[in-house]
Amino acid sequence: MKAVILVGGQGTRLRPLTCATPKPMLPLVNIPFLEHTFKLLKNYGVEDIILSAGYLPDVFESYFGNGERHGLNIVYVKEDKPLGTAGAIKNVERYLDDSSFVVFNGDILTDLNIEQLLEYHKSKKALATLMLTSVEDPTSYGLVPIDGTGKVTYFLEKPSWDEVTTDLVNAGIYILEPEVLNFIPKAENYSFERGVFPEMIEKGERVSGFPSNAYWLDIGTPQNYLKAHHDILGRRIKFDFKGMQTKLGVWVGDNCKISSKANIFGPVVMGENCQVEPNATIFGYTTIGNDCIIGPGVTISGSVLFNDCKINRSSVIKDSILDKGVELGVKVHVEETAVLGEKIKIGSENLLKRGIKIWPKTKIGKNIIKF
Ligand code: GDD
Ligand code: MG
Repeated sequence: MKAVILVGGQGTRLRPLTCATPKPMLPLVNIPFLEHTFKLLKNYGVEDIILSAGYLPDVFESYFGNGERHGLNIVYVKEDKPLGTAGAIKNVERYLDDSSFVVFNGDILTDLNIEQLLEYHKSKKALATLMLTSVEDPTSYGLVPIDGTGKVTYFLEKPSWDEVTTDLVNAGIYILEPEVLNFIPKAENYSFERGVFPEMIEKGERVSGFPSNAYWLDIGTPQNYLKAHHDILGRRIKFDFKGMQTKLGVWVGDNCKISSKANIFGPVVMGENCQVEPNATIFGYTTIGNDCIIGPGVTISGSVLFNDCKINRSSVIKDSILDKGVELGVKVHVEETAVLGEKIKIGSENLLKRGIKIWPKTKIGKNIIKF
């Protein structure tokens, strides 16, 4: 079976992290997110992968190449302008054959059993089968009610609360028969969620839903991107950590210098060549990239630091995300899902909270921001 992965979106909700890196290439516990999807597919024998890219497509190709290093065969199809989720599939038609194929949204972290999904699809003799997952707030997703036989009764993208009739939503993973391509116009921006699926259902075509209890998360918002890290570190989904486990729940890469007076409480993952100075405390659910310097007296918890971050004395980072090369001065507080873009320099004693987002390369002087 071949797989098409949709990676053409701009990842707007994850800006500024996605200003130079497409969402599926953001690190997930120090490994590009997409690598996790690739491992899952390979586990189920899916080795032919078509990446439907548009936004910053070269970032994918320069890392994965033809896929050989990962035991895969990857082709890249680049869109000049966004074709939408379904238009993107029509655009890769020449790489598909006459058998069923699997489609993945490029921002889904899951441990779905793909074989089970495929068997279910075949047993229902469906043209399209959608993985469904239950969520607390369906309004950010595609609402997908099914009847007692598993047939999808309608598809409503991003419903308002008064339209919510089920907690089952589209998980962004489909098994499709090639006939589905007939429902997609050529070279046009067209969506599965607002076009193809509602139309197929209206015409009485067999669209089935597969409710799944597998781990599932869309990593496309800062909250969910952090949650993905917390869930991986909390072992709610299987993940092979890089580095050595130096004590229970603490994984450290090569060449790290950790002061004997520093405290690390797992689960924590740290990359290579990091330095942790005396009296620094790293609490659980934290991921630190390569080449980071954590200064004396710094406290970090529940956060994600990309490579090359430098955190000066007595700063505090809590439940926040710092892109590559961020530098914090002395006694800076970064908390409450703050997102700091690449190479930002924050002067001493600033207080960055409440979901603040700061654009790449911004420089902020001493003691300026207090929220
Ligand atoms: N090639 C290509 N071209 N890919 C695209 C395009 C495009 O024009 N537009 C979006 N994508 C890719 C994105 O890169 C992402 O991987 C995927 O399609 C879904 O786009 P999102 O922007 O993340 O959509 P969403 O999260 O709001 O909603 C979708 O996913 C939900 C599950 O997470 C929908 O499919 C919902 O129905 C679903 O519930
Ligand atoms: Mg999404």
